[in-house]
Amino acid sequence: MGIQAPLGFEDHLPDRMPIWRRIEETARKVAETYGYREMRTPLLESTELFIRSVGEVTDIVEKEMFTFDKGEKDSLTLRPELTASFVRACVEHGLFKKKAFQKLFYVGANFRKERPQKGRLRQFHQFGVEALGATDPLLDAETVLLALRFLEELGVPGVKTKVNSIGCPNCRPKYRDALKAKFAPIIGQFCENCRRRFDRNVFRILDCKVEKDVALTADAPRVQDSLCADCLAHDKAFVEALTRAGCDHKQDPRLVRGFDYYTRTVYEFTASGLGAQDAIGGGGRYDNLIEEMGGDKAGAVGFAIGLERVVIALEAAGKAPEEEWFSTRVFVTHIGPETRGPAFDLVRQLRGEGVAADMDYEGRSLKAQMRSANRVKAPWVVIIGGDELAKGVVKLRDMGKSEEVEVKPGELAGRVRE
Ligand code: HAM
Repeated sequence: MGIQAPLGFEDHLPDRMPIWRRIEETARKVAETYGYREMRTPLLESTELFIRSVGEVTDIVEKEMFTFDKGEKDSLTLRPELTASFVRACVEHGLFKKKAFQKLFYVGANFRKERPQKGRLRQFHQFGVEALGATDPLLDAETVLLALRFLEELGVPGVKTKVNSIGCPNCRPKYRDALKAKFAPIIGQFCENCRRRFDRNVFRILDCKVEKDVALTADAPRVQDSLCADCLAHDKAFVEALTRAGCDHKQDPRLVRGFDYYTRTVYEFTASGLGAQDAIGGGGRYDNLIEEMGGDKAGAVGFAIGLERVVIALEAAGKAPEEEWFSTRVFVTHIGPETRGPAFDLVRQLRGEGVAADMDYEGRSLKAQMRSANRVKAPWVVIIGGDELAKGVVKLRDMGKSEEVEVKPGELAGRVRE
């Protein structure tokens, strides 16, 4: 057995590209319809960036990052997500000085050292948007609607939206105290992870998937009872905007999400056909991150959708047919060594005129070349034989109609474009 790709790292073979291209094209089209501009940042970032943004006591930073030279000052990490990178890049390049409000999007790879399973990879791709520089709750609604529009255009089935507010630095301590007071007497009954979370990040206990712990938190205090007046007003305006847009959503007081940068609005999308990993996307507001990364105080909100999970959901619904996809419009055949050169010239000429053309490079017989043309579904085949060459014409075969005509090479491009 030869060398294989590492566990959790996938190849996207040519036959899978139609679905990937459709997803990426839809992402770009929908994001641009909503006024977002594409940006790209590096795959590697300084480790410090994620420790300071995602948070030290999160699953991602504690155990899921691919980090080089850990503990050293210039340690680097393969990005586990893109929000932190986007804020860093905007601050670093002074984008906010040019325009205080930026609407940006990305399609790109992320890396998390998770235990691979269906829908959970170590290299995965996200489509995400980040609206940076405004606190308007309508913007939270805009991002939710954009995500849903993307999923709807692709035909992802069974999409559900959960929303919550997790408060701000003013009211969050109150909620933290309420949770601690509730869990302190029973903390010994929780899993080891939660016992650790109790001191360092008690909110994450609500996110625990261990069945016993879920039961133990069933009557935990609700965040809504701790929110300050500003957070309540923000949440109300956000939820009203969703309702006005006819967006079906559910308030989920347990939704906390696994990043420290969130403030106020958080949301998550699930879809059918995904099995245990049913979160297809998630996002929320992060009103302090820009300042923490060295910018001015400015609000921001965004989401990311996992594209491998989009593929799985579409496949489960039979909406991602295994289509073979070829671009060749004209396949130029040749008979014998003396016609190979002219065939090559003709292929070059057609490509120069913008027509997708190809030929045989394996020294196959004419019959085998016709089979190659069929295999790549070329609608036209050109046959260059000695006789035609002498007459200064080529034979053009319409593969659909099985008809042949003689054509001058200069007229070929015009004929096959019709
Ligand atoms: P996240 O919830 O960690 O959020 O990731 C968003 C989506 O990426 C998930 O819902 C899931 O579909 C996909 N995903 C995450 N991990 C994996 C994995 N190991 N394998 C396959 N798919 C995965 C974020 O990343 C935030 N940066 C979203 C955000 C943007 N918040 C504000 N702006």
